[in-house]
Amino acid sequence: MSIVADATGRVLRSRLAAALTAPHGVDRYLELIDPMLAAHEVRARVVEITPETPGVATLTLQPTSTWRGHQAGQHVLVGADLPASAKRTTRAFSISSAASAPGERFTLTIRAHEEGQLSKFLVHEARPGQLLHLSQAQGDFVLTESPATPTNHRLLLITGGSGITPAMSMLRTLLRDGYDGHVGRKVTFLHFARSAEDQIFADELAAIADADNGVDVHLHHGDSLFSEFLLRRLVPDFRTTDTWLCGPPGLVELVTDAFGDSPRLRMEFFKPATARVGRGSDAVEGEVSFARSGVTTTNNGASLLEQAEAAGLKPDFGCRMGICFSCTARKTSGTVRNVLTGEESAAPDEDIRICVTTPAGDCHIDL
Ligand SMILES: Cc1cc2nc3c(=O)[nH]c(=O)nc-3n(C[C@H](O)[C@H](O)[C@H](O)COP(=O)(O)OP(=O)(O)OC[C@H]3O[C@@H](n4cnc5c(N)ncnc54)[C@H](O)[C@@H]3O)c2cc1C
Ligand code: FES
Repeated sequence: MSIVADATGRVLRSRLAAALTAPHGVDRYLELIDPMLAAHEVRARVVEITPETPGVATLTLQPTSTWRGHQAGQHVLVGADLPASAKRTTRAFSISSAASAPGERFTLTIRAHEEGQLSKFLVHEARPGQLLHLSQAQGDFVLTESPATPTNHRLLLITGGSGITPAMSMLRTLLRDGYDGHVGRKVTFLHFARSAEDQIFADELAAIADADNGVDVHLHHGDSLFSEFLLRRLVPDFRTTDTWLCGPPGLVELVTDAFGDSPRLRMEFFKPATARVGRGSDAVEGEVSFARSGVTTTNNGASLLEQAEAAGLKPDFGCRMGICFSCTARKTSGTVRNVLTGEESAAPDEDIRICVTTPAGDCHIDL
């Protein structure tokens, strides 16, 4: 950044600028001049859309200078004003390109869910020039190793389906930064796709597999499912190997069973938390009342978001994983349980994330 741009940035981020532009804030005014000007918020312009497989595309984004960069494995919350919606729609996407520096371009690789809102729009309808609203990169599913911090440990990346994106960012970061598996640790990259046609990044992975760089690439398609036997054959000491796992619930379950209580396994989930924690073994009782809508249902033990949707309500949601806070609602009374932490709370007038909260009995929500 030039000295002038740096000084301008400091002025725009100052308290004086905030006071002068209250209540909207300086970014509201900058956006009117140029959507790529921002003092605090992060926005990005789609500069390229590359089809990967049917229904999957990679979007290259040019973020505003407010982007602080990302570590391999992190995700970003992406918001877009969809044509048929009055509200901004926000979802989480892992970054598929190598670690980025402040203001640097990065990529997202997205699978279109035919019944979904944002993924379908981004893959099939968005065009270069499309403006997106972003969070800073977040999440602790990150590659801690780098060529600059060599250890003798092997690295193991296990992914399925779209879960390949954070692992690809890790692999690309290592290779871009001059990683050589013969010198330090070997990398085993194990991926499961529905079919060869559904294999994302097939050419790049084939080139990496062919290159003599100490990266073992194992791609499994169709009926070839994960088994502990397969893993033991590839990485005999896998339980003591630093491992990153991201994939559909079935794969995650099999891999976590194989690893037992090994602390070397780190995981990232794309799917709703209730899918992995189950519905709990506690007896489910009581009624859930959504006060503002005047709807009361029998508590079935699912998340409050799912129970609201089943009752015909349409609460806001983003990640359905407890990370974006779009679903936050006021619980006026009742005991609820956070499915991520298992913690129970009976405090009245409490703001809760309804996507990761189940009611333990009677519960009143301001929805
Ligand atoms: C940390 C993280 C990283 C991720 N990274 C990636 C990535 O790299 N690539 C990628 O492709 N995806 C990724 N995802 C998934 C992504 O965030 C979205 O969940 C996915 O793209 C679907 O979003 P959508 O808006 O298209 O669908 P949504 O509108 O959210 O719908 C998704 C599904 O939920 C169902 N649903 C939606 N609304 C309702 C309702 N009211 N009632 C009942 N069911 C409903 C739909 O039937 C649909 O099948 C990631 C998720 C997380 C949490
Ligand atoms: S939908 Fe993201 S926190 Fe609930």
